[in-house]
Amino acid sequence: MKIAMVGSGYVGLVSGACFADFGHDVVCIDKDEKKIAALENGVMPIYEPGLDALVETNVKAGRLSFTTDLAEGIDGADAIFIAVGTPSRRGDGHADLTFVYAVAKEIGATLRNDAVVVTKSTVPVGTGDEVERILADAKLDVRTAVVSNPEFLREGAAIGDFKRPDRIVIGTDDEFGRDVMSEVYRPLYLNQSPILFTSRRSAELIKYAANAFLATKITFINEMADLCEKVGANVQDVSRGIGMDNRIGAKFLHAGPGYGGSCFPKDTLALLKTAEDYESPTRIVEAVVKVNDSRKRAMGRKVLDALGGADKARGKKVALLGLTFKPNTDDMRDSPAIAVAQTLTDAGVEVAAFDPEGMEQARPLMPEVTMVDGPYEAIEGADAVAIVTEWDAFRALDLKRIKDLAKAPVLVDLRNIYDPQDVRDAGFTYASIGRG
Ligand code: UDX
Repeated sequence: MKIAMVGSGYVGLVSGACFADFGHDVVCIDKDEKKIAALENGVMPIYEPGLDALVETNVKAGRLSFTTDLAEGIDGADAIFIAVGTPSRRGDGHADLTFVYAVAKEIGATLRNDAVVVTKSTVPVGTGDEVERILADAKLDVRTAVVSNPEFLREGAAIGDFKRPDRIVIGTDDEFGRDVMSEVYRPLYLNQSPILFTSRRSAELIKYAANAFLATKITFINEMADLCEKVGANVQDVSRGIGMDNRIGAKFLHAGPGYGGSCFPKDTLALLKTAEDYESPTRIVEAVVKVNDSRKRAMGRKVLDALGGADKARGKKVALLGLTFKPNTDDMRDSPAIAVAQTLTDAGVEVAAFDPEGMEQARPLMPEVTMVDGPYEAIEGADAVAIVTEWDAFRALDLKRIKDLAKAPVLVDLRNIYDPQDVRDAGFTYASIGRG
């Protein structure tokens, strides 16, 4: 199969490299000349474990190439994936489909062979219909089908998620679309990944419903954590206890500082907009969005409490460890660390921060924070240490060294990566999430 991947961002690049690794002939296309030039030189535009090696192997094998020229890239392709960004539109939270439709128009203007056009970008229900209209307007004399194929990969685990997905969702009622997509995914479902064929609109909604459900699960356990603190229960036991029920499931029940990232915040908002447009309100998702937003600032206040309260915090120093929205990524989008840092600096606290991969992206988002080269540099002279992101490198910090370097032995662990008893035995004042 020849596959064209339009958009070489996170989803496009990972999917393109993985399809190539399965033996398909893949061209990744992007308008950004610098990005394409860098990729041709083996430089990845994002940090994703294993991606550089995967790209290198497949480029060398002649199965993966890059271009800025869409017409050239889609020439002869059996499947053309649209994997461009769908950010929240400024002002109203709707998904911005400008890039998706621009690509559809360009495909309409240049396509010369039968091909399936696949939306892989997360797009609201009905977007496939519009892409189909755009292609119909182009009056092509080749066969096309528009298919929805949402992507469920997680940053930091993207290659594994792509290669061993829980399921593959293909939305189409068209036989040609179905046949081509079956070929495209043959290497995966022969590997026993279930493939679910649905209507296009159902596939589009599945993506939003999945992300909104996961965001709900996280937000639910976060509220339980708050309750645990009040009633003297342990949220990790509560998670385990409910998660052992197969109907609930054990995953996505880690209480923390609130979800962030490129998908959950944007997709929950976009789902609310779709629900509003169709006058079918999704009140649970509305509550999830509100609760998660306020939680991030509340985490900043938790750190202030550890300093003795907001009125005593001015002039004190906090070491923030971990800034990205989760480990193994350099992505700072909607990271709880932004709100935590803002709450602290608003209260007159001096903040020094370290993150293994995210500092470059964090700098412009938190100009009042001093970025340092390692965890212990941040901790030097600090009145409290706050772990915001659970990078492995923070899981076994030298507590004795922290005590020597810090002004006061205070640890706020927003990811519950330490055992409360161990830390207290080491002489620390320790605060965590939902372990009352
Ligand atoms: C998510 C979805 O998992 C993925 O299927 C979709 O394609 C894109 O969005 P991603 O944003 O990469 O992936 O990260 P994920 O690992 O899902 O975490 C999202 C956020 O939730 C992070 O901020 C994380 O810290 C938080 N989280 C996750 C929790 O607070 N608790 C949990 O139990 C799980």
